[in-house]
Amino acid sequence: MPNPMKDIKKEIEELRDKVNFHNYRYYVLDSPVISDAEYDRLMRRLEGLEARYPNLITPDSPTQRIGAKPLEAFGTVTHTIPMLSLNNAFTEEEAKEFDDRVKKLLKISQESEVRGQEIEYVAEPKIDGLAIELVYEDGRFTAGSTRGDGYTGEDVTQNLKTIRSIPMRLQKESGVRSQKSEGKIYPLPKRLEVRGEAFLPLKAFEKLNRERKKNGEPLFANPRNAAAGSLRQLDPKITASRPLDIFCYGIGAVEGIKFKTHWETLEALKAFGLKTNPLIKKCTGIEAVLNYHKEMEKNRDNLPYEVDGIVIKVNSLESQERLGVLTRSPRWAFAYKFAPMQETTRIKEIIIGVGRTGALTPVAIMEPIAVGGVIIERATLHNQDEVDRKDVRVGDTVVIQRAGDVIPEVVMVIKEKRPHGVRPFKIPDKCPLCRSRVERVGAIHYCTGGLSCPAQVKETIRHFVSKRALDIEGLGDKHIEQFVDDGLIKDVSDLYRLKKEDILKLERWADKSAENLIDAIEKSKTPALPRLIYALGVRQVGEHMAHVLAEEFGALEAIIEADKERLLSIHDVGPETAESIFDFFQEPHNIKVIEKLKKAGVVFPQMKRTKGKLSGKTFLFTGALESFSRDEAKEVVERLGGKTAPSISKKVDYVVAGTEPGSKYDEAKKLGLKIISEEEFKGMVG
Ligand code: IVH
Repeated sequence: MPNPMKDIKKEIEELRDKVNFHNYRYYVLDSPVISDAEYDRLMRRLEGLEARYPNLITPDSPTQRIGAKPLEAFGTVTHTIPMLSLNNAFTEEEAKEFDDRVKKLLKISQESEVRGQEIEYVAEPKIDGLAIELVYEDGRFTAGSTRGDGYTGEDVTQNLKTIRSIPMRLQKESGVRSQKSEGKIYPLPKRLEVRGEAFLPLKAFEKLNRERKKNGEPLFANPRNAAAGSLRQLDPKITASRPLDIFCYGIGAVEGIKFKTHWETLEALKAFGLKTNPLIKKCTGIEAVLNYHKEMEKNRDNLPYEVDGIVIKVNSLESQERLGVLTRSPRWAFAYKFAPMQETTRIKEIIIGVGRTGALTPVAIMEPIAVGGVIIERATLHNQDEVDRKDVRVGDTVVIQRAGDVIPEVVMVIKEKRPHGVRPFKIPDKCPLCRSRVERVGAIHYCTGGLSCPAQVKETIRHFVSKRALDIEGLGDKHIEQFVDDGLIKDVSDLYRLKKEDILKLERWADKSAENLIDAIEKSKTPALPRLIYALGVRQVGEHMAHVLAEEFGALEAIIEADKERLLSIHDVGPETAESIFDFFQEPHNIKVIEKLKKAGVVFPQMKRTKGKLSGKTFLFTGALESFSRDEAKEVVERLGGKTAPSISKKVDYVVAGTEPGSKYDEAKKLGLKIISEEEFKGMVG
């Protein structure tokens, strides 16, 4: 007899196995074998079945990773075996002393190299995160905790479930799916306590801080604090929004399986589907360890997570036992740290960098100093607000910091060391490159030299030729780079002076492509007015604003002549935009480039205002007006997009009545047309 309930249970089980397996491929091995869409389909099917049969939901189902309710407080967990910390070393000497001590305690002759008796170590990257413990019972993840003080930690089970590289179930056919299990099969232990480091990858850390900055929240000083802060959230939803990861590096208590070496333990963890660091290496003798340290330190900036040193562990577990532990740390392991990523130095000068968008960035030039093995001479000070906040001045002694390959930063000023009489630093009011005026928008100072500033030239060209601007096809970023770097183009107007022969002299250009480009440039010489305005790249003037200006002024020349009040009188133009437009055209460099464009043959179009204030409206004037002649009144109406009618008809929207209006007034009344006074008319046209 078929039992439908049994079938459903079976399907749910199979789906969970599948989801778990693909989770493992994606998050642990980083090599998925199905598409995201297929994975989503499996997950949705499982969610659907569980929604219909809630009694079949188990806590280790992959659907249960998120959605747990916020806690009031974390429970405490006593670790079966204390989670020790490590002794630190910073020099080769100290590393060699460690090796000597190990040999001595294991009663191996100090001159053992001679007899080939070297200690076998396992060397591992020391991830800068926080230590956690995972408990698996019969292969199921049942609890997880932080290290705490080493004896008791906090129960963060719900939060750990949100980390996708932590399996909810260990793999049963151990060894089969593991990539490198050296052919061994490891039976699932009844209970297994796994230890590892939870961390936030550098990219996620930077993104998180960017968001926090935007929201005005305090920033995390480093990825370790960010990881700890994320894992110790009472609301698992917050933890789930931070893509934490884990590397497992050891075990606590274990029932039902015995290992001989640390290496073998790691192999077993890997075979169970847990994530271990692929850079872990067996090293025979301390020299090999020293080499490993050198390699890792050189490579640290290329890793997607922060590594602050290496951990060295005696491989043989029997030797580990003989060496024993001290109160806080074992004698069989130690951390050999890298050079720290923070240092102090003195600021010699503060210079101004100009970015491709014209943003001015203050940069501290410092006495050169090695930070984490790299010589540093400059550090970004970001903007004036940051300079003010940290109160950084020339001559100050400062703490600087480097994180990965991120640009070094000034962390703080050591005020006690400030020399007498140094003045606060202010960003200058002229661009250091093109001498154009500098304007401040929000926190950022910008050079107003747009079209002519050498720092901005590539960006202005890129914008000028883009699809929605002058749409010059065939001129990609690479070409712009090439033209500017080879000195063929100094500003956008030079595009129109390009000759086929010039282009052909450059690398990677063929006859046909050069000809196509010249054609495309030629075609762009008669742009519509809004495109031309947009193409100039005036700050705050996007496509919409370019249309508004084109409608309002009808010609570029009229915009150039407009003062701030005139600009402000336009409905869509606010004070910041008015200021930006005005400043742009006040800049002689910009005017020069505009004139060069004209001379080079770009046609500056006139545009009929079609959508003025009065567009679609027909006016008729009767009687004498006080402020206008008839012709003037007509011109005003037309300038604003309206029309005037010579005689009364139903098509007239407004009859403007002056003094002694005459017969047209009576006719208008008869037809029921709207009659307004000269005052009202003036109000309408502003
Ligand atoms: S072994 C007794 N291995 O470093 C062994 N620790 O100062 C204890 N850490 O609390 C830890 N990567 O948070 C070990 N591959 C690694 C590690 C590692 C990072 C951290 C861990 C520990 C601290 C020790």
